[in-house]
Amino acid sequence: MTESTSKGKFITFEGIDGCGKTTQAEKLLELLEKKELSISFIREPGGDPISESIRKLLLHAEESMSDRAEALLMVASRAQLTDKVILPHLLNGRWVIGDRYADSTLAYQGGGRGLSAAALENMNNFGTYTLKPDLTFFIDISVEEANERMSVSRDRIEREGTEFQQRVRDFYLNLQQKEPERVILIDGHKSIDDIHEQIWSVVSERLL
Ligand code: ADP
Ligand code: TYD
Repeated sequence: MTESTSKGKFITFEGIDGCGKTTQAEKLLELLEKKELSISFIREPGGDPISESIRKLLLHAEESMSDRAEALLMVASRAQLTDKVILPHLLNGRWVIGDRYADSTLAYQGGGRGLSAAALENMNNFGTYTLKPDLTFFIDISVEEANERMSVSRDRIEREGTEFQQRVRDFYLNLQQKEPERVILIDGHKSIDDIHEQIWSVVSERLL
């Protein structure tokens, strides 16, 4: 299964924590539902009962977790979600909107933790059957602005600090330059409505 055999459209949102991706994913979902499209929303890690159990372990484990175990669990959660939710929906013609997908593992476990990009690419390919989103919105904001926006109760990865988040942001910026057709750069400092309009114009032009 690759992108060419999918019938529904797959759109993902990426960026550092607090960039506004959940806000934008929900606004896009609402608008597409008004157009009477059949559409599902998923979040990663999570989105299915088994993947949600893995999410609890990943984000709230009390013991120290090895970086490789973290990467493998992210991909395990993704494999479950891909097999049980994303691919069946796409093959049935449903659209899927994802709050994070495989790029997050490259950015956080690769850019952030410093694990091998090649190893992570292989793991992602295994966990997703090389499925790629049709469009990815990378919402870019400064780490300072993200910290202002983030809630005080932070999960294990959100607590990693400024330098970690900066490495993740830099990774996304590089990724966007490498794949400008798929990964759309959005200035996340603009207002919620302005960003939504920009996203909507890309979706209508490219996918509708
Ligand atoms: P993420 O899912 O990327 O962590 P959220 O969408 O949950 O981010 O947004 C984090 C916080 O920032 C929320 O309180 C949200 O209302 C606010 N927010 C989102 N987008 C913007 C924006 N463009 N300008 C100002 N605040 C925003
Ligand atoms: P997320 O649910 O987006 O956080 P929130 O909505 O609370 O802002 O993601 C949870 C955390 O998991 C976030 O810090 C990013 C991290 N993450 C990875 O490190 N690798 C991954 O592959 C994924 C999907 C998420």
